[in-house]
Amino acid sequence: MQSTPNVAMFSTQAYDKTSFAAHPLHANIKLSHFDIPLNAKTISLCQGFDTVCAFVNDQLDEAILTQLHASGVKHIAMRCAGYNNVDIDCAKQLGMAVSRVPAYSPEAVAEHALALIMTLNRKTHKAYNRVRDGNFDLNGLLGFTLHDKTVGVVGTGHIGAALVRLLSGFGCRILCYDPYPNDGLKALGAEYTDLSTLLSTSHIISLHCPLNEDSHHLINQQTLESMRDGVMLINTSRGGLIDSRAVINALKTHKLGYLGLDVYEMESELFFRDHSSEIIQDDVFERLATFHNVLITGHQGFFTVEALGQIAEVTLENMIGFSNGFKQPFANEAATETRFLIIP
Ligand code: NAI
Repeated sequence: MQSTPNVAMFSTQAYDKTSFAAHPLHANIKLSHFDIPLNAKTISLCQGFDTVCAFVNDQLDEAILTQLHASGVKHIAMRCAGYNNVDIDCAKQLGMAVSRVPAYSPEAVAEHALALIMTLNRKTHKAYNRVRDGNFDLNGLLGFTLHDKTVGVVGTGHIGAALVRLLSGFGCRILCYDPYPNDGLKALGAEYTDLSTLLSTSHIISLHCPLNEDSHHLINQQTLESMRDGVMLINTSRGGLIDSRAVINALKTHKLGYLGLDVYEMESELFFRDHSSEIIQDDVFERLATFHNVLITGHQGFFTVEALGQIAEVTLENMIGFSNGFKQPFANEAATETRFLIIP
């Protein structure tokens, strides 16, 4: 039976409105935008909707899902790839569908990881300011040649694999760790190894595995100690992979030589909003931001024109596909399986 999805979309930004409205499938749904996150304070806004469209920092724990279910919400349509903020077991028990956008532009995130590596290394962000200020002194801008360096890629799914392909063009030695190795990357010259060898050998370590119970604080005091002195650590995956306090200590002792973050453990309090005229209360974040060799971006790895278009298309297809009983617009069953984490 076909019905028009009635959708409450949370954490909406102006660019989300634009990219969703631009897609032809937008005409087939009723979409209400809320520019605030979904949490216990805002859940009352969901009355009367059958679908909730959420993003990376919306709260979808047991309490929220139970209330959503009671108010008639049948489908959680995530407009992102990661779903660590959704209590999947609870959604399953409640019989709610959960969908996502599995791979909207892995290259976009991989290219951002590479941008962090290149900027931290060659310090173009500092050079830009110096030159604009008439300061052509090179002291403090010394980098290293990426060619022949060993880069460790933790997690070689869509994004990790895209990064391996980019790095192979730089002539890096690439070490990978993933419980499910990708033979195509081996053909490019990447070597799979165990996590401890990757951590202790690499000059640069980039994290691309999902956040779950096993990977929470994968980077902690002990794993940091096992790394090379002066190592570069890049995280464009999820903040909870890194113990931020341990990382601050490692920066203070020079164990960590460079840190590039696009995600942060407590980012839900900060990211995607302008706090420039407020006093930021998060002392851990503020301490991180003081180091000259730390570069932080506010979860923008996904933020390309192409990725926004793909997010809108797949999310709209998921909403309409669910309300159509998984007939059109899905081309095949495999697409349905990877997009829908739970089909009740
Ligand atoms: P994916 O599901 O294609 O790949 C994840 C890979 O990690 C899989 O191959 C899996 O076997 C592996 N893995 C799982 N547990 C592991 C562990 N403990 N150690 C090593 N490998 C492990 O996911 P995809 O699309 O590559 O995304 C990776 C992560 O990137 C997502 O979970 C998401 O959190 C993050 N992401 C960040 C974005 C941003 O804007 N910064 C945008 C999109 C995703």
